[in-house]
Amino acid sequence: MSNIFPNFHLIDHPIIKRNITVLRDVSTQPDIFRAAVKRISNILAVEISKDLLVSEFEVETPLEKTIGYKLKDEIVLVPVLRAGLGMVSGFLEIIPDAKVGHIGLQRDETTLKPIEYYYKTPKNIDSAKVLLIDPMLATGGSASEAINYLKKRGVDNLIFTCLVAAPEGIDRIYKHHSDVKIYGAALDRELNEKGYILPGLGDAGDRTFGTL
Ligand code: PRP
Ligand code: URA
Repeated sequence: MSNIFPNFHLIDHPIIKRNITVLRDVSTQPDIFRAAVKRISNILAVEISKDLLVSEFEVETPLEKTIGYKLKDEIVLVPVLRAGLGMVSGFLEIIPDAKVGHIGLQRDETTLKPIEYYYKTPKNIDSAKVLLIDPMLATGGSASEAINYLKKRGVDNLIFTCLVAAPEGIDRIYKHHSDVKIYGAALDRELNEKGYILPGLGDAGDRTFGTL
């Protein structure tokens, strides 16, 4: 599917394609599923962090002084519980200085509306660059609600990253949060009548944690 969305950036990479296939495969067991999520997250983190700003400082090598670099902004990863947890270690491997906040949201399976059950983020999150992380962008209800919570806490430097995005969710984020850029590893076709992404990979939380 071609990308016609102004707010969506598809990370097109052969290793991502291979690992998304592993995730889609219904026979993939949780240990293999988690390993594939981590590999994709590593690549997403590398691609997304290309745009991070650095500042210079003096570093002393064993031989002489030279210019060193550090990330200019504090980075805060915010996984949406539960399934977002599976992506955190892959991001932390690439951005080890990042802090991690958590937002607990669960879709009501009948209304498809997200319900918040947990919120804990670093105090200075309003001055940080925030990477909101959730493997699935389906109706966009959970992501949109999580962005609302973060904006209410003063966050204005924010991107959203996912593994699989549906057009409906991308549209919804654009409608409610046109300032938030989305980075995804796959762009899927549509949602079914139960709000699942097609072709998708099923319920990401259940497949990550073996709760099927
Ligand atoms: C999944 C997923 C997203 C949400 C996406 O979580 O991880 O948070 O659904 O759907 P939406 O775009 O329609 O809101 P779920 O609510 O199943 O909770 P879980 O992570 O605890 O399994
Ligand atoms: N949440 C999931 O985990 N999978 C979907 O396909 C849609 C929402």
